[in-house]
Amino acid sequence: MVREISLSASDFIYPLFVHEGSEDEVIDAMPGCRRWSMAGLVKEAGEAYALGVPAVVLFPAVDGSLKNKTADECWNDAGLIPRAIKGLKAEYPDLVVVTDVALDPYNSDGHDGVVREGEIVNDETVEILVKQAVCHAKAGADIVSPSDMMDGRVAAIRSGLDEAGYADVSILSYTAKYASAYYGPFRGALDSAPKGGDKKTYQMDYANVSESIRETILDEEEGADMVMVKPAGAYLDIIYRMKQTTTLPVAAYQVSGEYLMIKSAAKAGWVDEKAVVLESLTGIKRAGADIILSYFAKDVAGWLKG
Ligand code: PBG
Repeated sequence: MVREISLSASDFIYPLFVHEGSEDEVIDAMPGCRRWSMAGLVKEAGEAYALGVPAVVLFPAVDGSLKNKTADECWNDAGLIPRAIKGLKAEYPDLVVVTDVALDPYNSDGHDGVVREGEIVNDETVEILVKQAVCHAKAGADIVSPSDMMDGRVAAIRSGLDEAGYADVSILSYTAKYASAYYGPFRGALDSAPKGGDKKTYQMDYANVSESIRETILDEEEGADMVMVKPAGAYLDIIYRMKQTTTLPVAAYQVSGEYLMIKSAAKAGWVDEKAVVLESLTGIKRAGADIILSYFAKDVAGWLKG
């Protein structure tokens, strides 16, 4: 009766990996997650949806032969993600399909932006991100979610979508995305680690707070519909500050490393998985997150129902 915060299945966006193969592949570094085949993806998303999870976000494992320096495959209308969107929408028209907008799974350099002479070129990257967002919208995505951290991309994507006739497609911006060691297992899952250097020239320094406020103000001005903090568990103060700064819905991403730490400790018998998952996610919501991206989304929805 006096509990202030309660989790609900409708708080969640469920991240799912998809690949070209016809088998669902186990991901060693993310026990319990799979690189889904198209059929597996539709089934898994459908099960989560039936438990009350309203949305999924898709990440592609792209064959090495399709990667190049300008990530051309990322806006191929016949590519993996457009086909996955159509497959999901055909089966579950009301499932909210969110797509990741960034070059890294398609880029032979493994960076979120185009690399020229060792530098990330911001503006050329933004032009490609706009093509990618429009490609996803054309295939039926409800929300596009730029995770690349290039400057000015939210405004460019907004006008690109509007001009192409997709004014009703929303933007969930990775607003305060920190350069984080917690992304390691994800990069293994997609084989998307940078081939050289690191992401510290475009992702944020984890020692910074004010910069997250500045990014929030910029994203709001540029037309974001929702803003995000990533990772979540080590950044609860940032979630709190962002929630005080904006009236937009605030999302937080409990990333692969956070997931793996809980999973591996639970597997070793050192913590109670369900208890720790519920506590960590309630903490993220208590800090101010309206929406949570978590690999535990389907499990939690099942527990809440059960
Ligand atoms: C890259 C992207 C990353 C994640 C989501 N989108 C990794 C990165 O920035 O290197 C990480 C998600 C996770 O760790 O769960 N566009």
